[in-house]
Amino acid sequence: HLHPSNHQESSILRRANCRAKGGAPGFKVAILGAAGGIGQPLAMLMKMNPLVSVLHLYDVVNSPGVTADVSHMDTGAVVRGFLGQQQLEGALTGMDIVIIPAGIPRKPGMTRDDLFKINAGIVRTLCEGIAKCCPNTLVNLISNPVNSTVPIAAEVFKKAGTYDPKRLLGVTMLDVVRANTFVAEVLGLDPREVDVPVVGGHSGVTILPLLSQVKPPCSFTPEETEYLTNRIQNGGTEVVEAKAGTGSATLSMAYAAAKFADACLRGLRGDAGVVECSFVASQVTELPFFASKVRLGRTGAEEIYQLGPLTEYERVGLEKAKKELAGSIHKGVSFIRA
Ligand code: NAD
Ligand code: LMR
Repeated sequence: HLHPSNHQESSILRRANCRAKGGAPGFKVAILGAAGGIGQPLAMLMKMNPLVSVLHLYDVVNSPGVTADVSHMDTGAVVRGFLGQQQLEGALTGMDIVIIPAGIPRKPGMTRDDLFKINAGIVRTLCEGIAKCCPNTLVNLISNPVNSTVPIAAEVFKKAGTYDPKRLLGVTMLDVVRANTFVAEVLGLDPREVDVPVVGGHSGVTILPLLSQVKPPCSFTPEETEYLTNRIQNGGTEVVEAKAGTGSATLSMAYAAAKFADACLRGLRGDAGVVECSFVASQVTELPFFASKVRLGRTGAEEIYQLGPLTEYERVGLEKAKKELAGSIHKGVSFIRA
């Protein structure tokens, strides 16, 4: 954080201040909820990303400590910390990407929807700030329940007149990361060689892995399909139960969020063929939001891919997913419209 407390320090740091202000090449990224279980390792991973020139760390508690800590890493990004609602504007202004892992996590026995009461309001407040301070930013929304918080964000942006569906991305990357890991395990492959599309949403049966479209091409027995689908759909609960009341996935999530943000940054830079799964405004089904493969470009989610051919098992799964998703989307939309 480059706010020297006295004149001498101020003159010693003048070149550093020049670099921060002059805009070293790269993108400006903010993390909202940066002191949390996801936020802290995510801050570290984004500080390690060579495409990031400025990293803003915002939280309502503890962000000064996390900022001091991460800022000592000898990587390129200039790190600045922001604490509390009155500093939200500073955290957001000028940002190319805003990543939001703010909000409470699950404890054993809870569904993601049980988080709605608290997290809906947090997401609304943060998105009102985005609409005001950086309406053109790319939003990576992690806070649960994603199936409802993305519709909430969209409604906030619509109300403010800033909504661009291409720039609002629900982060479902952890489902893909898990699917790649579990499928690789069954196939006896290195997970880095495996690519599993996961569509639908980010909760229980709405998480729909398309095992018939795994790369490299392969086939599964009905038992393997059932096992993998269940394990991928319940991956979050597996972690919540193992953590026994201390939280939900944070490290694998930070990894997934950093992987997704890196794809967004490469898209913004103009790289060709950057494709990842994300929960976005969509016409792939009759629902207004749906997760599927999207192509990330200079303006966000520039192309949304159809689901492709599905097996009977996947078609049944899709119907179940859509039924639950419709309710979660409606709940999010009504929260703002009501
Ligand atoms: P956590 O409680 O460890 O951290 C959350 C942080 O958000 C805290 O530091 C808290 O101070 C901060 N916060 C609360 N209100 C805020 C506000 N108004 N503005 C800014 N910051 C605020 O929780 P966590 O484990 O980091 O999880 C965060 C969220 O991410 C949860 O809702 C969780 O369910 C969700 N999550 C989503 C995925 C996914 O795949 N999309 C995966 C894992 C977790
Ligand atoms: C996950 O999938 O790990 C997250 O959505 C957190 C949770 O509550 O399961």
